[in-house]
Amino acid sequence: MSQLKHLLSANDLSRDAAIGILDVAEEMAGVNARAIKKLPTLQGKTVVNLFFEDSTRTRISFELAEKRLSADVINFAAKGSSVSKGESLKDTAQTLEAMGADAVVIRHGASGAAQKLAQSGWIDGAIVNAGDGTHEHPTQALLDAFTIRRRVYGVGSSAGRGLDGLKVVIVGDVLHSRVARSNAILLNTLGAEVHFVAPPTLIPADASNIKAKLHYDFDAALAEVKPDAVMMLRIQSERMNASYFPSEREYSRVWGMNSERLAALKPGALLMHPGPMNRGLEITATAADSPNSTILEQVSNGVSVRMAVLYTLLATERN
Ligand code: NCD
Repeated sequence: MSQLKHLLSANDLSRDAAIGILDVAEEMAGVNARAIKKLPTLQGKTVVNLFFEDSTRTRISFELAEKRLSADVINFAAKGSSVSKGESLKDTAQTLEAMGADAVVIRHGASGAAQKLAQSGWIDGAIVNAGDGTHEHPTQALLDAFTIRRRVYGVGSSAGRGLDGLKVVIVGDVLHSRVARSNAILLNTLGAEVHFVAPPTLIPADASNIKAKLHYDFDAALAEVKPDAVMMLRIQSERMNASYFPSEREYSRVWGMNSERLAALKPGALLMHPGPMNRGLEITATAADSPNSTILEQVSNGVSVRMAVLYTLLATERN
């Protein structure tokens, strides 16, 4: 189907390639609904999960996806190395190459780490970016697109479709969010209209490179755009070296999703969050647990989508 060697950025995906992966993910969701959730597709392949940054759902999601495709899985939690980042990445990569890794799923605190690994020649296998600093998180964007497609068109009528004409509002800490960046790219590729809502301090200086309309008033944006989906972002406190907003109370009042804003959405609009959530900060518990919320669907869809990505990279042409 595709000649993709790595998945480093949402920009690696043409519209056809993205829809192709989402369609394979539909098949994988079928497998995940069976009593025996397993395919022999990656038997004999070794996949290494190389996580330099904390992660719960993304790491577990990849691990489950790899195991459901029958790959041999190695989890390498590389956090806390005292060696400088370039060196430690090189040493680790060469070790993995010597062990015969067919694919490396990497999460790293430095933007560009996945790209660096792919271009370095240290590793022959496929590289999947599972989040690099504030840069990109392409499998999150794919699982979000998959979630929107299934909810909007219905599970049986999604195949082959993009997200043409759908309106998606992405709210909050856009500046530090690799989820926002990858989503904005992929949503545009799939034909959706992207809006960012955030305080000016949390909009990246290079926002003009990203095709998105900017709004500085959440309520006005909801009234004007009438979105099909609203994606809330986690406040990335661990990446903040300054005060980007006066107080948490003020942030949640001005930029948070709550019952009133939920009631202002059009019926059936989706409320999304990549997790982990700061309940009470960017989203209230009532909103997070409402019928509009897709938060747990996003988690289960993540497994199907990551199976589709690994299948596309490892089980096609390059055998
Ligand atoms: C996101 C991440 O790590 O970028 N989470 C995730 O992958 N599920 C979003 C976040 O941490 O806020």
